[in-house]
Amino acid sequence: MEPATPDASFAKKLRKASVAERREMLANQYLESFGSGERQDMLEFSGANNPRLLDFCDLMVEQSIGAIPVPLGIASGFLIDGRHYHIPMATEEPSVIAAASFAASRISHYGGFKTRADAPLMDAQIFLEGFASPAADSIAIAMIDAASDSLRDALSPLLASMVQRGGGFHSIQADSLGHGMGIKVTVRINVCDAMGANLLNSCAETLRAPLERITGGKVLMAILSNQAEARMAEARFSLPVDDCARAGFSGVEAARRIIAACAIANTDPSRAVTHNKGVMNGISALTLACGNDTRAIEACAHAWAAHTGQYRSLTSYWIEAGPEGDELKGSIELPASFGTVGGACGIHPVARMSLALLGNPRAQQLSRIAAAVGLAQNFAALSALTAEGIQQGHMKLHERRLAWRNKAL
Ligand code: MEV
Repeated sequence: MEPATPDASFAKKLRKASVAERREMLANQYLESFGSGERQDMLEFSGANNPRLLDFCDLMVEQSIGAIPVPLGIASGFLIDGRHYHIPMATEEPSVIAAASFAASRISHYGGFKTRADAPLMDAQIFLEGFASPAADSIAIAMIDAASDSLRDALSPLLASMVQRGGGFHSIQADSLGHGMGIKVTVRINVCDAMGANLLNSCAETLRAPLERITGGKVLMAILSNQAEARMAEARFSLPVDDCARAGFSGVEAARRIIAACAIANTDPSRAVTHNKGVMNGISALTLACGNDTRAIEACAHAWAAHTGQYRSLTSYWIEAGPEGDELKGSIELPASFGTVGGACGIHPVARMSLALLGNPRAQQLSRIAAAVGLAQNFAALSALTAEGIQQGHMKLHERRLAWRNKAL
């Protein structure tokens, strides 16, 4: 039987309740119809026997009712810029960690991944409106340009600690969004090892009043941009073509098939979405393990995939002659706004553990690791898809999951 629809007073009681009370109210309302074993699993796995976890969740989000444990695994075998890594990955999907480890081990035999990342520059944006004509837009932009020193000074108190760490104000720029759409003011800041969302939002809000005063316009909104295209990360690898042989395909043919699969993703957006989903299987799992903002990382990666006007592959593959024969080259380039201090990664014990497993990297280093993981994940997927397929490996784990569920019911 469907539980009775809770009314507004139930919602109000939930808001005022403690985590434990909220859990009890919801269990009574919605979980009565489950068998006792399954109900117990639901309560235990969401934190019933872990009051500290429940307190922590209550600290992290509003109206918490517990946690959903996502498995945390280690993809091993990564050699990135000459250093070996065990990559923490939080994912509910089978095969992702095995695939990343497989690709990483192969690539590590031939020098591993070479990576780079830009300085951690992020943008805050203030959108102004209320200008009567295109000429008024231009005058407002000129006034903002002329006042850039005083706007920078207005941010100094907020940026003092960032400056001490080697970051801080980078630039301010005003652009017309087209008459009637208003003006966008972009403040670029070096956020060092932070993801920087709070700081950027505070900077944007601090400039609301000065910008209204300077231009006579009205602020519509002030918020960071997650686009992060000033903060690109890249990774690449080389493998002897002969070593790409798989499932009865010669090395040359297997490498050709990988390149052809990537070419399809560059031509057909419906394939590119799946191709890039595979890239993000690795990057998002690392992002979550490190307590970073998966939505921010994903949104700007997908926006970048469409930066040419068509949604395409984030990765590239080609063949080049090497000293000992032809080599398959793989590369990836994407914006990566990782943080290693502050926010959830500064407080979440598991995120702190993941960062420790990585040797407590700085944010730029974490972005480079993420690029290598995304490329490994994609190479593993394309290698399997264009050879024996992926279902074989998937099905074994799937069967284990079904057996577990049947036992639980
Ligand atoms: C599955 O999660 C990811 C893949 O679909 C990626 C791809 O098709 O490239 C295997």
